[in-house]
Amino acid sequence: MELAIETNRLKKKFGNLVAVDEIDLEIPQGKLFGFLGPNGAGKTTTISMLSTILPPTSGNAFILGYDLEKEAKEIKKHIGVCPQEIVLYERLTARENIHLIAQMHGMNKKDYKERTEELLEKMNLLERADDLVKKYSGGMKRRVNVLMAVIHEPDVIFFDEPSAGLDPQSRRVVWDFIKDFQKKNCTILLTTHNMEEADDLCDELVIIDYGKIIAHGRPNELKQRLGEGDVIEFKVEEKNRPKRDEIISRLKQLDFIKWAKKVGKGRIILNGLDCLRRISEIMDAVQVKMLDISIRKNTLEDVFLDLTGRRLRD
Ligand SMILES: Nc1ncnc2c1ncn2[C@@H]1O[C@H](COP(=O)(O)OP(=O)(O)OP(=O)(O)O)[C@@H](O)[C@H]1O
Ligand SMILES: [Mg+2]
Repeated sequence: MELAIETNRLKKKFGNLVAVDEIDLEIPQGKLFGFLGPNGAGKTTTISMLSTILPPTSGNAFILGYDLEKEAKEIKKHIGVCPQEIVLYERLTARENIHLIAQMHGMNKKDYKERTEELLEKMNLLERADDLVKKYSGGMKRRVNVLMAVIHEPDVIFFDEPSAGLDPQSRRVVWDFIKDFQKKNCTILLTTHNMEEADDLCDELVIIDYGKIIAHGRPNELKQRLGEGDVIEFKVEEKNRPKRDEIISRLKQLDFIKWAKKVGKGRIILNGLDCLRRISEIMDAVQVKMLDISIRKNTLEDVFLDLTGRRLRD
């Protein structure tokens, strides 16, 4: 299958800081590919390089077979970028903002007018499309920004945290909107630090931390890597916080526990098979009072936690 995005040891340094550390990617056409990582992981920097905004320090990349370094002009014709920071003309309406971008891409008037209406409708913005954007809420602006990235029907779309700051309902609208593009065989690269978003939307994803890819696979594969089982999280009383290391070593002696770790202030998280049925054995090992106990299935957040010992949002 032909690759939409290919990178070879792509790297970006800002002074001494390595923001993106020699990443290798092969993203086939038609994939919805995710970049999941915490703040500062290098997600935006990668998108900026792939969308020809920022020159790499070393390594190279190809978008639809075009060389990033030598064929940037060609690449620009085929890509759409929805930046993390909202960029809109506040004194224009939503419709005018979108039309303006379409004109910049040299689209035919009839085509872009029709398409604008279709897009506004899909994003639930039709009713307010004639209001000045400066009167929009943050979530509405974000949705207009998403539309501006796709008006010209790009083959490859970069969405940098497309659902940041949206309420659950608007987030759904944006997710459905993004999924629709995939049906049209567009290739999508989206970044997020929302593991639910990554899990729900992406065919395949990388987890990125300190500029490096630390895991790569389909969401289910990544979760399975941690093993079947449940994740139990609980808090200990303040006075027992210093005992967490001892508690963890006792937990690890139970044969059904895969791993156990300290998280946050006074919490412990553990993964194991059939934890609910064996909760009494866990309680015996913990020995102290367990507060706010929650039990759930593995999530991508747990994959990250397992790999780094940190949470995505810490
Ligand atoms: N123009 C710049 N000059 C110097 N350092 C930069 C610049 N842009 C990014 N960085 C640094 O590079 C690293 C990666 O930043 P980047 O914006 O790519 O992270 P991110 O994964 O998009 O994070 P977030 O989730 O917060 O958007 C950070 O340490 C950041 O401070
Ligand atoms: Mg970013």
